[in-house]
Amino acid sequence: MNDFAEKLLAWFAGCKRDLPWRRLQHDPYAVWVSEIMLQQTTVAAVIPFYNKWMARFPTVQSLAEAPLDDVLKHWAGLGYYARARNLHKGAGLVAAEFGGVVPSDPKQLLSLPGIGRYTAGAILSIAFNQEAPILDANVIRVLSRLHAVTGDPKTSVATQVVLWRLAEEALPLGRAGEFNEALMELGALVCEAGAPRCGTCPVSEHCAAKRLGDPTSYPQFTGVKKWLDVEDVSVAVRNAAREVLLVQRSPELALWGGLWELPRATRQDGESLEGCVARAAYEGAGLNVCAMSPFGVVKHVVANRRITLHGFEIAALDFLEPKAAAWAWITPETRGNYALATPQVKLTDLLFASDTQGRLEL
Ligand code: ADE
Repeated sequence: MNDFAEKLLAWFAGCKRDLPWRRLQHDPYAVWVSEIMLQQTTVAAVIPFYNKWMARFPTVQSLAEAPLDDVLKHWAGLGYYARARNLHKGAGLVAAEFGGVVPSDPKQLLSLPGIGRYTAGAILSIAFNQEAPILDANVIRVLSRLHAVTGDPKTSVATQVVLWRLAEEALPLGRAGEFNEALMELGALVCEAGAPRCGTCPVSEHCAAKRLGDPTSYPQFTGVKKWLDVEDVSVAVRNAAREVLLVQRSPELALWGGLWELPRATRQDGESLEGCVARAAYEGAGLNVCAMSPFGVVKHVVANRRITLHGFEIAALDFLEPKAAAWAWITPETRGNYALATPQVKLTDLLFASDTQGRLEL
């Protein structure tokens, strides 16, 4: 083994964090779940979700057999819900096509929804100890600094090709899984984005960026994030028992597909807020509004969208049953039976906290 791999692995053996998925590394399903959760989400946020998930869906078979609603309920709050829908679909495929055994063949793994080169590499190396590279944000930062890689890894395909090649060439035979995890751990604990701790880095003598004097100038990110500001309206309508209507979004929708919400619409250019309230009620649940009253505002960021979500309590004309594919009447006590995204949890918190009895002219 080369000096770099030896130093990195020795450091990892002494310094690695005790994380729940590190206790199940022989189990490719557990590695799959943890790696999907860890995409776009921090380790600290993932831990409680991972523990609850593995208690409820301990095997690929148990996940395959679970209803999507239950799966989404266990993901609710973690964000990027396509990850949960893909895991569920993938577990179904593993059960149907691979006899319930997560495949160790790269092509078969890559055929599963939501598994790209990174996740396949993580499962192959960590669970099956195959010499497969990985490249996530931490590894990109570490390798970019070690080798002073030029170009923007977000936008330059040539830079991505160089980084994947470096990740592959660095793998020590027979210890790829440990090595990949050590690279990620170094990025998380030492080679941090804003303030790298070169003084305690076990491989600083191998680092080209340190030799050049400014490690933080790598990776050479150039882009400025383009924000999209969005205004959404959700309406709260109550029945005679003062229960609140929730509707379920189509599972096919990319954003919050399959989750439950107060009927919602996105405000269009030139549309008044009141017009959007009427449309949210009509398009979301087939309700004609006769009175409205604002009860709260929630701000939320998802990917590049900065969402301002306005809550309006409404009274509706002439309806017997809401027109939505699936709907339910909830109380503060029964809300937990449904998978709601974080902004909808915050909005319904505001609704339940405000005593709106008698505020509307019904
Ligand atoms: N981030 C992505 N995968 C990880 C892992 N296996 N351990 C720690 N952090 C990670």
